[in-house]
Amino acid sequence: MKQIPMLDLKLEYEYMKSDIDAALRTCLDHQKWILGPEVKELEDKIAAYLGVKHCIGASSGTEALVMSLRALAIKLKDREFFDEADEIITTPFTFTATGDAILRAGATPVFIDIDPETYNIDARKIREYLASSQKGKVVGILPVHLYGLSCDMNEIMQLAQEFNLFIVEDVAQAFGGSWKGRKLGSIGNAGAFSFFPSKNLGGFGDGGIMSTNDDLVAEIIRMLLKHGGKDKYNVDHVGYNGRLDTLQAAVVLAKFKYIDEFNERRGKVAGHYNSSLKGINGLTLPKSLPDANHAWHQYTVRISNGSRDEVQKQLKDKGISTMIYYPYPLHKMKVFGNGRSKTFGNLVNAELASASVFSLPVEPLQSAEDTAYVVEYVKELS
Ligand SMILES: Cc1ncc(COP(=O)(O)O)c(C=O)c1O
Repeated sequence: MKQIPMLDLKLEYEYMKSDIDAALRTCLDHQKWILGPEVKELEDKIAAYLGVKHCIGASSGTEALVMSLRALAIKLKDREFFDEADEIITTPFTFTATGDAILRAGATPVFIDIDPETYNIDARKIREYLASSQKGKVVGILPVHLYGLSCDMNEIMQLAQEFNLFIVEDVAQAFGGSWKGRKLGSIGNAGAFSFFPSKNLGGFGDGGIMSTNDDLVAEIIRMLLKHGGKDKYNVDHVGYNGRLDTLQAAVVLAKFKYIDEFNERRGKVAGHYNSSLKGINGLTLPKSLPDANHAWHQYTVRISNGSRDEVQKQLKDKGISTMIYYPYPLHKMKVFGNGRSKTFGNLVNAELASASVFSLPVEPLQSAEDTAYVVEYVKELS
């Protein structure tokens, strides 16, 4: 029987093997494992690609989020961490790391519901919350471009200006995506990307990168990732060992050459699903926005009748993998309980999404035949 995985990293490696092998061999020859030349080369290339002044490699997307927030606390508050009275608005429908980074930066996450069609935070509800909350309590917004689709960055940047807030974009799932022609991660005060292997631009392990146009934020981040100082034997801040590994930088550099091609390939698979699966009763397809260039990290559908477990099982029986991103909204998790987070109103759209979405395979190198096979069996479910 056919097997259609969510992603086929072996196939991708075969496709880029000569580039990746050469990059690894160069590292073996130079033996500069900590902040080797590949890290700077990758930072410069990604900064040029995004159109930002600075990119700074990080040990993971999670650490990239934490260090971006910490740098803003140091710059704006002149304190090492935010404190519990400082609120940062984010979505409850994301990977744990988004909310966790806010806690680790010392602030309180405020979860605001999502738009039921895009699955991204609902900017109108952010406005409602800001209008009703005491001035100065909210310090920033952490929008997540979920599944590769941009949030409504016009409205979010407008709110930032009106209410004097910082914006840190969580771009973990949206490398190469854009909003009105601007690359995601270049719009807010800072952006945090992940090179987790399954991401659109992934390494062979953990890694990430931060982007910013702010010279001071960049300077602080560079200190934070090296234990907190310009001189690591005499430090200024509570820092991390948060550097991007040379080997990961080398792999990501080799793969970076293919990012636009691979995002286009993802778009083709998604386009095929869009046209072939439309009109199926009880199946809602993902929405695109005219202002957004979707990076199609995931192709996520929702079912409105029947059991999701049963649907996943039926597809699995045909060799088709599916995944649920994410089965639990953050406000339902213990880690965000005990007063460690706040919610605004009810979060029904996030809860409904957690209970009804699942993602279909979008491997950039997936053949048209395999995409048609997925379509055939998804259609059969109805
Ligand atoms: C939305 C989101 N934020 C943050 C992260 C954290 O990235 P990492 O796994 O590289 O720490 C991920 C991915 O894992 C993610 O999907």
